[in-house]
Amino acid sequence: MSNEQPNGKNILEIVRHAVEVHGKTREELIPILQEINRQYGFIPSQGLEEVARLLQIPKSQVFSVATFYHMLNVKEMGRHIILFCESAPCHVVGGREVWRRLKQELKIDAGETTPDKKWSLVTVSCLGVCGVGPVIVIDEDMYGNVTPEMIPDILARYN
Ligand code: FES
Repeated sequence: MSNEQPNGKNILEIVRHAVEVHGKTREELIPILQEINRQYGFIPSQGLEEVARLLQIPKSQVFSVATFYHMLNVKEMGRHIILFCESAPCHVVGGREVWRRLKQELKIDAGETTPDKKWSLVTVSCLGVCGVGPVIVIDEDMYGNVTPEMIPDILARYN
């Protein structure tokens, strides 16, 4: 996958620069996100993941801050963001089937938002809780040992 925007800017370089300028602290999360938004035009999920990695903040927190503030543009994200761990440990314990079911229920693919803007589906690398894989995070809620059969019930908890 390419990191390049048509204007030639590299998202990872922009993130690293913003973190360097503001400092690697949790308190600077919003200024860092604003800087990235200004430089890149919006903040793609790859950029949010990199911020989480560098600041050592849970990905779900970075995603929820980025989608909460209207001055930040994460490009047509839905009201609820589902982070799906696609790393190997989750994959081998049934992640593939969970992913299939998620896509089937929502009728969207990775990086997409449902037409009613209720859901966005984002694939991320390890969420740090591999022992309970497969793992999905919806907004601030973490679900472990997820099976395909659980997906409709989990989704039904959100308005
Ligand atoms: S591999 Fe999925 S949480 Fe670590």
